[in-house]
Amino acid sequence: MSTDSAYRRTHTCGQLRPEHVGDQVVLAGWVNSYRDHGTGLIFIDLRDRDGLTQVVFDREDADQTLLDAADKLRTEDVIALSGKVRIRDGGPNPKLNTGEIEVVAERLEILAKTDTPPFQPSDPSSLPNEELRLKYRYLDLRRPAMQRLLRSRHRVTKIARDYFDEHGFLEIETPILCRSTPEGARDFILPSRMNPGEWFALPQSPQLFKQILMVSGCDRYLQICKCFRDEDLRADRQPEFSQIDLEMSFVTREDVMQIIEGFVRRLWKETKGYDVPQLPVMTYQDAMDRYGSDRPDLRYDLELVDISDLAAKTDFKVFTGALEKRKGVVKAIRVPGGVEKLTRKMTDGYTEFVKQFGAGGVPVVKYTDKGLETGIARFIEPIADELVSRLGLEPGDMVLFGADSYAVCSKALGELRQKLARDLNVIDEDRWAFLWVVDFPMFEYDEESKRFYAMHHPFTAPNPDQLEKFLAADPDDRDTIEGIVSAGYDVVCNGSEIGGGSIRIHQQEVQNKVFQLLGISREEAREKFSFLLEALRFGAPPMGGIAFGLDRLVMQIAGSDNIRDVIAFPKTQSGQDLMCESPGSVSDEQLQELFVASTYNPES
Ligand code: AMO
Repeated sequence: MSTDSAYRRTHTCGQLRPEHVGDQVVLAGWVNSYRDHGTGLIFIDLRDRDGLTQVVFDREDADQTLLDAADKLRTEDVIALSGKVRIRDGGPNPKLNTGEIEVVAERLEILAKTDTPPFQPSDPSSLPNEELRLKYRYLDLRRPAMQRLLRSRHRVTKIARDYFDEHGFLEIETPILCRSTPEGARDFILPSRMNPGEWFALPQSPQLFKQILMVSGCDRYLQICKCFRDEDLRADRQPEFSQIDLEMSFVTREDVMQIIEGFVRRLWKETKGYDVPQLPVMTYQDAMDRYGSDRPDLRYDLELVDISDLAAKTDFKVFTGALEKRKGVVKAIRVPGGVEKLTRKMTDGYTEFVKQFGAGGVPVVKYTDKGLETGIARFIEPIADELVSRLGLEPGDMVLFGADSYAVCSKALGELRQKLARDLNVIDEDRWAFLWVVDFPMFEYDEESKRFYAMHHPFTAPNPDQLEKFLAADPDDRDTIEGIVSAGYDVVCNGSEIGGGSIRIHQQEVQNKVFQLLGISREEAREKFSFLLEALRFGAPPMGGIAFGLDRLVMQIAGSDNIRDVIAFPKTQSGQDLMCESPGSVSDEQLQELFVASTYNPES
């Protein structure tokens, strides 16, 4: 085969079917497997991103040069070959799309030999540890499972672009080198050589720019963009992640929600063939009360029930002590059949589990034919009947309690609810449970710094019915401020917050009030967001928008629980790229050029 024709593939490795029998074809790819059974035939499976094709070298018919070349093949060598398609001699392989045919090789060109790879991408049974996969990401990405994930991600962005284009959105890019933005995480910053002593921040999101685009009259904006947040990583967080980001002018919350539901419906229909029903809407308060989470997983019950009024009638110190706290509550989770399903070891483990969320422990009672049992049962005795009827207990059920401030109790039981669901194996993995969470508090009080933070970001508007109360709020009136509800909304799927947004403030007086309540001085506000505040002076339309976490969306659609799997080149839990070994050191000269002094000393 001459070199110039070698790569002229006639087909991919996933394309050939019985209708191609007799055709002369050229394929190229990686040697996925090599088998010489000593029967006079050498078999290889040739792989590209499209699939596998079986290729046969026949020692009886083929010329010696071809056989010599074939004998030298190793898995992961890159080759091109030509040959004739025939019906597979040894019978069809139903596992492959191309399983009915094989190609009898006539010419072979080895395009690149490989060293022995640290792991075999072709062998799904020997998946190496994640560190090795990330270090040799190009080998990892060769695995068909990873190719499928890349494809899913492409599908999602393609559908997003098509859908939003059909609805009048313009894709507009915004800068990566910019000022600090207000999403509340730590910024990644970059020194400016041309402006000594000054720094860029990488955007935590394009929030300010998209609002400015609305002031610019762009009306409907879309961007599939990168966001950068220097925060502690979790299974669904990356320091560099992507959003499907959009903004709309002259809209209410309902308008944005309608557009977004349309997108979610299109996305699931086209990728999963699933008709998403109308999304239920739940208030933040309801979500926290019943599920202890603002992103409840509705694929299972295990709801939290407030029994504070009953607990107040007992002498149980754990209960009464909690009720004396500011916003103290006692809540219970009924575990149907828990007497059988939960062992002592498990319930002891739950006490340890909730401690990481600040709770003291998890008292439990069993409900059997004989009534309520176990350690704390005698304390519960006076409220036994009411408890049984409030929780709808049936013999065999177990009840787990949480008693603390509302915030700690909700967080601890919310996390415990998820753990219980996994332990009891009650999550229906074939379901998608979507919902909107709305009516978030505008502000969140931080006990440590003794100040309020914006629950979403400081450009989120109060709900229209809250405006009067909001404008009149006294900065020292914690209860009133905590009670103000914003025009923010999150979209949740199976317990994951896949998107979040809000109606924005477009009037200066409202914006200034937010800064006042957040304790941000006019100077500080001007220093941080001057260009947005300036823009609000020159005629800003009412506007609202949302951003989907693209990585999280793909995780849902591809059924992955690891965000790193849906990103081609992700960072580790400790924020490193193991393949290109970043972050890395820089030379003193580079630092000098940037007017940055290195103060880091690993010895100190
Ligand atoms: P928010 O901060 O809620 O809103 O982010 C929107 C969505 O982005 C995803 N997300 C992340 N995904 C992976 N890793 C991370 N570290 C990470 N952080 C957030 C989540 C989240 O729902 N500018 C606003 C949007 C708006 O108001 O329009 C914003 O960024 O899925």
